[in-house]
Amino acid sequence: MKKIGVAILGLGVVGGGTYKILTEHRDFYKNTKGIDIVIENVLELDKNRALALGIEESKICTDIAEICSNPEVDIVVEVIGGIEPAKSYVLAALNSGKSVVTSNKELYCKYGHELEKAAKKNRAGLYFEATCVGGVPIIRSMLDNLQGNVYSSVIGIINGTTNYILTKMTESGTDYSSALEEAKKLGYAEADPTSDVEGFDAVYKLSILSSIAFNTKIPYTEIYREGISAIDGADIAFGKQLGYTLKLLAIGKNGKKGIEVRVHPTLIKSTHPLASVKDCFNAVYLNGDSVGDVMLYGRGAGAYPTGSAIVGDIIFCATHSNHVYSTFVNTETAATDTKFVKNFESEYYIRLSVDDKAGVLSKVTAILSKCSISVAQFIQDGEREGDKASLVVITHVTKENSVKKAVAEINATGIANVESVIRVIS
Ligand code: HSE
Repeated sequence: MKKIGVAILGLGVVGGGTYKILTEHRDFYKNTKGIDIVIENVLELDKNRALALGIEESKICTDIAEICSNPEVDIVVEVIGGIEPAKSYVLAALNSGKSVVTSNKELYCKYGHELEKAAKKNRAGLYFEATCVGGVPIIRSMLDNLQGNVYSSVIGIINGTTNYILTKMTESGTDYSSALEEAKKLGYAEADPTSDVEGFDAVYKLSILSSIAFNTKIPYTEIYREGISAIDGADIAFGKQLGYTLKLLAIGKNGKKGIEVRVHPTLIKSTHPLASVKDCFNAVYLNGDSVGDVMLYGRGAGAYPTGSAIVGDIIFCATHSNHVYSTFVNTETAATDTKFVKNFESEYYIRLSVDDKAGVLSKVTAILSKCSISVAQFIQDGEREGDKASLVVITHVTKENSVKKAVAEINATGIANVESVIRVIS
């Protein structure tokens, strides 16, 4: 039977989950795949963490060189996260001819071009299913099963931590900080949860997914980003009243005018399939010209779901004689002919705090009309706060720059102030 030696770099939440899946399923993989996957080494500075998992002391390393020089290791699994030392370790492994499986979206997004070059040069594999949406098999589905399609959009809830927080805030009225603490305890959040709540994690994943979908490099620097840390519970409540659910959406579209890529809180119609994606669950909603709409759904974070994606890549790598690389030209920057649409179009939710007196509403509507913004819905909150009232406007589809202009003009009136602007998908 073919023996495959694996080394795991980092025994945190995902590394620990991967270790357990591989050891618990060793006989299953022998029987069903005809391969014996043996964990030859782990790289972990906290020895007790490794010993607690039942790993023999002789297998625990603290120096990547030990793993690179171990002829028994075929595949190195990088689950450290972040750029350094992960990048140096992955390059060292590839340069010593080992294949690499990684869950590190920041590393693959920022330096995938460099890693792929090293992998090709050394005829080593480089697999990254676990970089995006945990256990949801999105990358291989796009590369294999759906490869006959020209994709026009890839839209998703691709961060488990923020989806967990928004679900708790919406359904139980939990405050933002307590919901974030819960997500950290459950092992969903990154070591520094700023990456989750400010939308960076989703930006890295969208860069990878849209590059595959649109067959061209979409650098993360081209992606518009807004996180959820400034979300006000009032907007979740108004959204509910209007039939919308608040989600952190990652949106990639490829149209006649170019490519549009953005990550931001979005109010989506509560009947939209993405609105029912709750807690740590993620979903990616794709549109391909042949298949139409497809939604892939599952757990987007956590030890076992992400471990499932990693083990899938290990088995793929071990059972394919020719390695496969990204289907787009993996460069650092975008191709010179790629056009990015920055002044994109959307419907908008605008919440204003206004002086509760005659003439204010007509002034606000006059500004909206002057900026070519057509109103779809208007509500005024019955409850006044002193002499102020809340006014909520949902617009028809309009341009981002028109909304920015209207917001500046409304704020300059002195009788109304825009408290929040959230993009809407009806
Ligand atoms: N922190 C990430 C998330 C983990 O919450 O989605 C999975 O990539």
